[in-house]
Amino acid sequence: MKIAVPREIRADETRVALDPESCKKLIALGLEVAVEAGAGAAACFSDQAYQDAGATLVPDAPTLLGGADFVLKVNAPQARPDGAHEVDLIRPGALLLASLFPTRNLEAVKRMAERPLTTFSTDCIPRTTRAQTMDTLSSQANLVGYKGVLLGAMELPKYFPMFITAAGTTLPAKVFVIGAGVAGLQAIATAKRLGASVTATDVRPEVKEQIESVGGKYVGIDLKQGASAGGGYATELSAEDKALQAKLLADHCAQVDVVITTALIGGVFAPKLLDDAIVKSMKPGSVIVDLGADGGGNCTLSKLGGTVAVGGVTILAPLNLPATMATHASMLFSRNLLNFMTAFWDKETRRFKLDWDDDILKGCAVTHEGQVVHGPTLKALQG
Ligand code: NAI
Repeated sequence: MKIAVPREIRADETRVALDPESCKKLIALGLEVAVEAGAGAAACFSDQAYQDAGATLVPDAPTLLGGADFVLKVNAPQARPDGAHEVDLIRPGALLLASLFPTRNLEAVKRMAERPLTTFSTDCIPRTTRAQTMDTLSSQANLVGYKGVLLGAMELPKYFPMFITAAGTTLPAKVFVIGAGVAGLQAIATAKRLGASVTATDVRPEVKEQIESVGGKYVGIDLKQGASAGGGYATELSAEDKALQAKLLADHCAQVDVVITTALIGGVFAPKLLDDAIVKSMKPGSVIVDLGADGGGNCTLSKLGGTVAVGGVTILAPLNLPATMATHASMLFSRNLLNFMTAFWDKETRRFKLDWDDDILKGCAVTHEGQVVHGPTLKALQG
């Protein structure tokens, strides 16, 4: 089976779907791997490193994708600068594995179904113990939490730790993390390591202990209806619970120096939690880092992909933060894809097992035989 790894064409993308180390492991399984020349350059993986790993270099994407049985990508396919769409370069009937975020990329999904391609999205992999090693949402969110705190620390006109000096003592900065999933827990741990005093909240009650285990202090409210959707996902709050939470956020944000927001509904869309009034109540010099930006933003005043100053408050809403740490982000992403491929690769028949009874394969399949087979995506397409 021929695997193809093209260069990502999304403007802000520096990651590559497969690093040389994982490439070598796939080849050891008996697969052929072809990589577009320069595909790993922005992540600091040279063409030579891929050749040393046993891959073939192909000079251009049309040749590479046209000859592939299975395409590995980071992002959903999109239109290329020359006008051709990546989907139309892939041979009909081929397979594709990427972080497609299908409900955010409905046009690409329609094209993949029409081509037709059999596609799997790593961000839709069910949250089971067996699937953990394949979960790109977790591997990348961890990096987002880390980098978000560093960005906040750089923007704050204070430093994070308590300093006891001959000139006097300064107290630690106060950091408040909203949403304590994978990104949020890493944000708490990173802010704590930098010496800040950290509080955090979430709508899933089970996270209280997790917040405390990484050094944060839990602040929360007793929601009337709760918002756990299973598998670690949260649902949107009821109107009554939203009002309760808004009061907590208003009170707490006014007291802190840095607010890091990481809240997502269903792992995809960001609820608006910080409104104009909350931002305006915050202390001059304080900073909001809206890590929900890729999902639309947790703050009504965020400029997605940019920075704005509102009164004395700076709001950062960076997009695609893993791409700012391309080497490690690609290494982890690659291992997720390698683990997926290994789980479904039959060494004896040298075929990828399309086992539709398997909960992982079934759960993350997006298109197959001309149909959209992923429930939430189908629902989104039907409007
Ligand atoms: P996520 O990215 O979907 O959401 C981030 C956080 O925002 C969640 O903790 C969610 O509860 C919170 N949130 C949503 N609405 C909120 C609101 N209105 N206010 C405050 N917080 C809000 O979640 P993530 O980070 O991908 O995962 C959450 C949990 O799922 C993890 O802590 C882990 O326990 C579990 N998980 C399990 C996996 C597995 O077993 N394979 C893989 C990934 C996650």
